[in-house]
Amino acid sequence: MTKIFITGVAGFLGSHVADRMLELGYEVVGVDNLVGGFMENVNPKVTFYEADCNDLEAMKKYMKGCDIVFHAACTAHDGFSLFSPYYITKNTFENTMSVLSAAAYNKVNKFIYCSSMARYGKQPQLPYTEDMECMPVTPYGVAKYSSELVIKQVCELNNINYTILVPHNIIGPRQNYSDPFRNVAAIMINKMLKGERPIIYGDGEQKRTFSFVGDCISCIEKAITLDNLNGEIINIGPDEEFVTINQLFNELKDILDFKGEPIYVKDRPNEVKLATCSSDKARKLLGYKTNTTLREGLEEMVEDIKNKGTKDFNYIYEIEINNDKTPDTWKNKLI
Ligand SMILES: NC(=O)c1ccc[n+]([C@@H]2O[C@H](COP(=O)([O-])OP(=O)(O)OC[C@H]3O[C@@H](n4cnc5c(N)ncnc54)[C@H](O)[C@@H]3O)[C@@H](O)[C@H]2O)c1
Repeated sequence: MTKIFITGVAGFLGSHVADRMLELGYEVVGVDNLVGGFMENVNPKVTFYEADCNDLEAMKKYMKGCDIVFHAACTAHDGFSLFSPYYITKNTFENTMSVLSAAAYNKVNKFIYCSSMARYGKQPQLPYTEDMECMPVTPYGVAKYSSELVIKQVCELNNINYTILVPHNIIGPRQNYSDPFRNVAAIMINKMLKGERPIIYGDGEQKRTFSFVGDCISCIEKAITLDNLNGEIINIGPDEEFVTINQLFNELKDILDFKGEPIYVKDRPNEVKLATCSSDKARKLLGYKTNTTLREGLEEMVEDIKNKGTKDFNYIYEIEINNDKTPDTWKNKLI
């Protein structure tokens, strides 16, 4: 039986990948330090270890006998990383180095890395394609891109097949909705279900695409199971349905029959205004298809959050740099 090691298995993406790989008959070993994930997300069939990916000895030990690594563990806080660069990059770059090193030590066959569209940064043209020069504008983006570069070096040297996946703005059930520092749709739903007005940074005309988790999982599954993707970097997500943050709010307003209007606050530093990715390569190599519309995806998410109940926002991450550039929403816990 093929054995896969999944980091961040208690998180949004990692837990869905674990479920799918178990369905396909894989043996799944998973780790998570639960900083942003929840035990309720972990499939009981996963051999689970509560561990920090920065702990190299633990990674070496728990990964023993695994054939494939799917590395998703991260504190994926793009905008916030400008104000907590040490902690966020430690959990993006350093933890990847530890997992990668353990993968080479254990002689795994394949390493799949979850990067982020933050790798692209500010580009002169849209949509982002995988061959563009990366120009990240946040410590998180730099940490993701730097991780990719080292993955290439270490995997090539050690004959490990590797693939870099670049998901963008995934939505769906199990996404953490009590984290005030990321996941815009989840934050909005949590607030609106409480009858509170959501906060929008800037004028809300930031343009994004949102992908439903199920559509991403079918691509991730292919990246794990196919053997012709060594060295490929592949964007994952739709490129047909672009929305602004204002349109996202209006869609949710309609679904939830919410009566209020958003509160507009100052722009967040270095937030990329227009960020959309091309899915051509994913269509070609992974058979990507958008099966779930934004509306359907949001409806599923609303159901999930309704079922679990709204939560207070949990300001667990320390703001390392607290000055006039730090958004008041985080400084003064206003979300
Ligand atoms: N969700 C998205 O829209 C999106 C978009 C692009 C890229 N990604 C990438 O996909 C991956 C998964 O993201 P997600 O949305 O599922 O996030 P998530 O926060 O739901 O899951 C990440 C998990 O990693 C765990 N974790 C964090 N640091 C850890 C550490 N040092 N050791 C062990 N566990 C640790 C957290 O507890 C959490 O359960 C990340 O690498 C992220 O950068 C996500």
